[in-house]
Amino acid sequence: MTDAERGAALEVIADEVRVCTRCRLHETRAKAVPGEGNPDTEVVFVGEGPGRDENQAGRPFVGASGRLLTELIESIGWQRDDVFITNVVKCWPPGNRDPQPDEIAACAPFLERQLAVLDPAVVVTAGKHSLSVFMPGERIGRVHGTSRPADPATGARDALVFAMYHPAFALYDGSNRSTLETDIGGLPETLLAARDRRADRAAATEPPAAARPAADTEPPAASDPEPAAEPAAAAPSTFHPVVEPDPGPSFLVGTEPDADQLTLF
Ligand code: URA
Repeated sequence: MTDAERGAALEVIADEVRVCTRCRLHETRAKAVPGEGNPDTEVVFVGEGPGRDENQAGRPFVGASGRLLTELIESIGWQRDDVFITNVVKCWPPGNRDPQPDEIAACAPFLERQLAVLDPAVVVTAGKHSLSVFMPGERIGRVHGTSRPADPATGARDALVFAMYHPAFALYDGSNRSTLETDIGGLPETLLAARDRRADRAAATEPPAAARPAADTEPPAASDPEPAAEPAAAAPSTFHPVVEPDPGPSFLVGTEPDADQLTLF
């Protein structure tokens, strides 16, 4: 898919979200909040649901939590515009209450379709409701700052999930900010690990060059050994130190990065 096709596919989903009536949240919303960001990104942030400010703006993370999220993203040398930001539920739960299970279920197909289009290398969960979609049964206090392979059923077919506290965690108590900063500091290395994993899995599904039939030869007979292997088993997350950034397809235009700093685009 080209960037333009991906952007167009995301806009189709956003248009559906804006007129959605699948759950009660449409009755009280001002504007639905489909999500926004770079359609060519490798990193998708998934929050819980729009707050009061987002409900007015129709954009995710534009209030106090959003300002902190932007600062956290910038703290690792990335830009907010480099990533895609969306939520588990796309409409404001009135009074900023928690989204209810049936509301999350009604909205889930939108998130799945967004992830299927974006095919991110890393999904960053912000908050417990997002965590419960991507690491069901886990507690944020146990897994924050860590990653594991995403279940492809989430729509993220080949991604690592990176768990973070919601930015509001630091708004309630400023002393929590350092936890968020430390956690997001592990995100660049997680992106490198995710790229390595995707490359390994892609290589495992490609037949070796010698086994590939030449374009003008007959396909192998049914009795020939199967060249294609199953995708490698999901590897646990590894935070290996960055030596050289992998020259992936979509980043590092221009200046050389520091050895231990990864930038998007
Ligand atoms: N909190 C969220 O989880 N999402 C937003 O978009 C804003 C605040």
